[in-house]
Amino acid sequence: MKSVVLGAQWGDEGKGKIVDYLAESADIVIRYSGGANAGHTIVTGDTTYKLHLVPSGIIYPDKIVILGTAMVVDPEALFTELQVISDQGISWQGRIFISDRAHLVLPEYKHEDTSEESSRHKPLGTTGRGIGSTYAHKAKRDGIRLADIFDTERYALLTEGQKTFLEAYREKLRPMLLDLVSFMADHKDSTILFEGAQGTLLDIDLGTYPYVSSGISAAAGACVGGGVGPRDLDRIYGVFKAYSTRVGNGPFPSEFHKERDGDLEEVIRETGREYGVTTGRPRRCGYLDLPALKYACQANSIDTLVLTHLDVYDAFDTIQVCTAYRRGEKVFDNFPASIETLERAEPVLEAFSGWKTSLAGIRNYDDLPEAAKQYIRYIEEYTGTSIGIISVGYRREDTITR
Ligand code: GDP
Ligand code: IMO
Ligand code: MG
Repeated sequence: MKSVVLGAQWGDEGKGKIVDYLAESADIVIRYSGGANAGHTIVTGDTTYKLHLVPSGIIYPDKIVILGTAMVVDPEALFTELQVISDQGISWQGRIFISDRAHLVLPEYKHEDTSEESSRHKPLGTTGRGIGSTYAHKAKRDGIRLADIFDTERYALLTEGQKTFLEAYREKLRPMLLDLVSFMADHKDSTILFEGAQGTLLDIDLGTYPYVSSGISAAAGACVGGGVGPRDLDRIYGVFKAYSTRVGNGPFPSEFHKERDGDLEEVIRETGREYGVTTGRPRRCGYLDLPALKYACQANSIDTLVLTHLDVYDAFDTIQVCTAYRRGEKVFDNFPASIETLERAEPVLEAFSGWKTSLAGIRNYDDLPEAAKQYIRYIEEYTGTSIGIISVGYRREDTITR
């Protein structure tokens, strides 16, 4: 069984929590895209783990985890992260591997990222982790892959500065090297989770370009990044929040605005603890954007939606969702490519009754309040996709499977 867990919004949907939850019954977890721009949070017992490059399966002592082919890997960030989780009691030696075709993020690429960002007329709000510049070098075909630093001829072509940086990591990386396609061919019967990073609306092709990241966050990315072809994917999970958030710049049609929505943004941000894991930036918050979610379902062939953060609405009298966009006289419910259209669009809102009770501790779908079930049914009907997992808190056990 091979399943993909991807973000169906602008990232931070709770992918880390859900991958950790599903990983219990998996053998191998493969991160298929992005780099240290991601921040995936897992809470088990009293411990909070914040992962950036390391796949979320690492928390279990017996899972193999792999950084996939389409990732961009900063060795410095990787070993810092491994030290942090080691200090938290996680033993990772011998069970973490990296596709030998993954590209390396070098310090000079990080400088390029921040200097390009500061010279932009309209900054994107990047994480400064060298993501866009490393993917750009890859596309220009002068990037450096993990395999290249073990290839004598190729290595000799690097600058002295690059070699000096890489020398500190070369021997530590060597045992992690993996030919991912062969490995996957040898593990046809394993249960495998492909862990996405960012989200559909930050995907380089499907997202709100140019306000996107540079990797393929979409389900299709799980194939190239994960060493398999499309026919090998059995199930696609799309994770989304009961509302919307976005870190960094770019259009966000259902974003809360003080004049229209009062202090909703502050309430959601504080209740949902909406601050970036990687940069600590406050996340922008807004209504659940259903046209965008439906677009994500269609673009990724999502089989099963995973609804997270439902508990954040526990104290609300009414809950509103965006069901279409309005621009002037025109009302539409497709997710347009035009940034200008998205920036000028106003959300058309529909209201639902809140449940006014705590969802904490609920473990069965049948025990959810009727108002919460109505909200869930509406989303399912709108998107034409069933919601198979519901998350009602940040801990592993705060999860309902239908
Ligand atoms: P990811 O990037 O998709 O893995 O998500 P992040 O870890 O960046 O952000 C999700 C945040 O929400 C983390 O702080 C999680 O601990 C938390 N979280 C996940 N699921 C839930 C949930 O159902 N309810 C609440 N209140 N918090 C959640
Ligand atoms: P996870 O995996 C939310 C955003 C940045 C910025 C844009 C480009 O935790 O969901 P980059 O540094 O990638 O070039 O920045 O993308 N961004 C994310 N937002 N969650 C993420 O990852 C993100 N990774 C990148 O804020 O707007
Ligand atoms: Mg995150």
